[in-house]
Amino acid sequence: MNNLPPGYLTESDEMVLNVMALDCKLSIDLGTCNGRSAAILAHHSERVVTIDLFEDCEKIVNEGSRDHYKKLFEQSPHFYSEVEADLARFTNIEIIKAPTAKTALLFEDKSVDLVFFDADHSFTGVRSDYVAWLPKVKQGGKFLFHDATNDNWDVRTFCDQVMLSDNAVYEINVEITNSVIRVFKKM
Ligand SMILES: C[S@@+](CC[C@H](N)C(=O)[O-])C[C@H]1O[C@@H](n2cnc3c(N)ncnc32)[C@H](O)[C@@H]1O
Repeated sequence: MNNLPPGYLTESDEMVLNVMALDCKLSIDLGTCNGRSAAILAHHSERVVTIDLFEDCEKIVNEGSRDHYKKLFEQSPHFYSEVEADLARFTNIEIIKAPTAKTALLFEDKSVDLVFFDADHSFTGVRSDYVAWLPKVKQGGKFLFHDATNDNWDVRTFCDQVMLSDNAVYEINVEITNSVIRVFKKM
């Protein structure tokens, strides 16, 4: 895949996104940043909605996450308009500049095939995103969590403590080594 926007996904992560987005009608990308994950999903999904607060990141609830992203966007005051201009070449990507959890209210229940969680990486942040998006996902739809494999990461704690004991979902083994994405399917 040529000319993707910049980003920090590994080749293995990109493979997981490619495989999981196959034949999806609607994929939701939580955390746009430069748009790399959105662009990958857009190669296989009919429609991708990518959500980020960009320069409005003072609205991120978790303090640690907020401070982290504030620094990123302070360095680039036109970040959003640059990403918007770059992603315009993908006619099936729509960007929503808003908080990831609240945006779920814009979608009908059971209308979404895939959600990629890559926004607020704190336990409380990922939990509010999951609670908001769970009803929006179809039966058999997928939840992909980035940065969910390392012992020291909150997203892993969330997956182990909440996802593994949630009867609404089950974890699937994607058989792609070295990816830091974990995948759950809705029952
Ligand atoms: C790790 S980056 C996303 C990387 C992107 N998925 C990629 O492939 O390069 C996380 C992004 O999530 C955004 N973010 C964090 N918490 C958010 C929230 N609660 N609502 C909206 N955006 C949020 C940040 O502004 C940041 O741009």
